[in-house]
Amino acid sequence: MEVESVMVTGANRGIGLELVKQLVQLPKPPKYVFATFRDDSTIQDLKNIKDSSKESQVILVKMDITKIEDIQNARKIIEDSVGEKGLNLLINNAGAVKWQGFPDITEDNMLFHFSTNTIGPLMIVKEMLPLLQKSAANKTDGLSVSRSAILNISSTAGSMATLSPASPLGTEYLKIMGYRVSKAALNMTMKVVALTMTQESGILLVNMCPGWVKTDMGTDRAMLEVWDSVSDIIKTLPTLNESHHGTFLDRHGKTIPY
Ligand SMILES: NC(=O)c1ccc[n+]([C@@H]2O[C@H](COP(=O)([O-])OP(=O)(O)OC[C@H]3O[C@@H](n4cnc5c(N)ncnc54)[C@H](OP(=O)(O)O)[C@@H]3O)[C@@H](O)[C@H]2O)c1
Repeated sequence: MEVESVMVTGANRGIGLELVKQLVQLPKPPKYVFATFRDDSTIQDLKNIKDSSKESQVILVKMDITKIEDIQNARKIIEDSVGEKGLNLLINNAGAVKWQGFPDITEDNMLFHFSTNTIGPLMIVKEMLPLLQKSAANKTDGLSVSRSAILNISSTAGSMATLSPASPLGTEYLKIMGYRVSKAALNMTMKVVALTMTQESGILLVNMCPGWVKTDMGTDRAMLEVWDSVSDIIKTLPTLNESHHGTFLDRHGKTIPY
């Protein structure tokens, strides 16, 4: 995999931070890694990666994914660096959960999840599209992460086909109702985007679940260390091609039913 430029949203902690860490350590690391965060007081780990990165230029970009002006500002920063080469890979990673189940669920809770997990990623794709198109135009061979790609970090929690009363976690996990609905909506949103762009766009789009990961969101009860999840994701990226466009995959590249 040869990726020239990558944007990772929600890169100050959890899976996003680990993605940045492992991307700059690739045998052929990206020239630019645009790592987004929203709170200046949370970026010490990112700064450490930036300072120790020898080959990649790690550029920290302040962006709340629910604020259009922040997204537009991020696009300008990226455009200034990558120029005509465009943006190679967008990883829509930032996401949030607030536990609330039915019938306690509130309008605010639902809107919070839609705004962060569905609309934010869509607006980022929309804003970055011209940069992804530039990268796609620089190569002519099929679809790949090395050409131009969007990776949406989704969740099996958004899979309607796999949600069943027999869940080993019992009914407790129905209490992330807004999160589940917003990730299902993210999957549909991005499938529509993928089918609209078609393969002729040269931009590969994949929705991927990282597994249940020990982060602030995943909690200590999760099954996977963040290093393992991210290293699996990074191993899978170069295997993705036309056949994966618009699909929902686990971190190994296996299909998850929508
Ligand atoms: N962990 C799991 O088990 C698991 C499972 C399936 C899917 N996922 C997905 O994986 C992705 C990363 O999750 P994680 O486990 O790494 O979670 P995390 O540790 O809670 O980190 C979430 C990241 O998203 C950022 N974020 C949240 N709302 C934002 C907003 N409005 N604007 C900008 N950034 C925002 C956070 O920034 P702040 O620090 O500023 O809050 C943080 O960087 C999410 O999309 C999540 O849904 C996780």
